[in-house]
Amino acid sequence: MNTEDKTNINSVENFQIIPIMPEAMAVFQIDKEKHQEFKSKIEHLMDTADDKYRRDVPDGDKREFLCNNRFQNVLLDFPELKELHSILKESALNFIKKCGFICDEVIITDAWVNKYRLGSTLPVHRHANSYISGNYFVNYDKSINSPLTLTNDRVVTSQAPTLKLQPDDEKTPYNRNTYEIICEESTVLLWKSHILHGYSKPEIGDNRLTLSFNIMPKVMGVGEQFSYAVDENSRV
Ligand SMILES: [Fe+2]
Repeated sequence: MNTEDKTNINSVENFQIIPIMPEAMAVFQIDKEKHQEFKSKIEHLMDTADDKYRRDVPDGDKREFLCNNRFQNVLLDFPELKELHSILKESALNFIKKCGFICDEVIITDAWVNKYRLGSTLPVHRHANSYISGNYFVNYDKSINSPLTLTNDRVVTSQAPTLKLQPDDEKTPYNRNTYEIICEESTVLLWKSHILHGYSKPEIGDNRLTLSFNIMPKVMGVGEQFSYAVDENSRV
């Protein structure tokens, strides 16, 4: 962008605000038939999987988790999800490449299923030790299930990494508190893992089912000096 032509340093009315380095999010949908197949397999797992795959939650908790444990990975522990594993891996690799980075292979380091019942919320958080995170909306009706909501860390005090000011009433792309993603069932979202996300609007549905995952490039490398590799076969 040529800023010289349009910028007049003598006029406060005539300056530009340019969106430098915007954040990338991938949005795509799993093929309808494939989605129905994956959905019934995942729902079946939620009903039948051994207790060792279930995370303990406090009595009365409105959530259920499958394979939400560092030694488990729902996409690897259940061979019936092998094809979904390949689709998510491939899409994350494409996302990284489309954003303009060099990467030959990715590894899904964690993958688990979340069931959120009536009244539940998902506190704002970000995923550590991960490069890309994602959500696959397995059982989801946007008219009743809460949307995933991304939080702007320029504005939200408790999570702000630096100084903040009170936002104006006039919304801009920079001062909004949050960004709600309204999507259909079968949608997959991919984002950089450091982005804050969650939702505060309590569920008015009773069976919000999503599959969450974390992804690392197999080799994290920069130039000729620095790199390390991630091993898919070691879960520690
Ligand atoms: Fe998350």
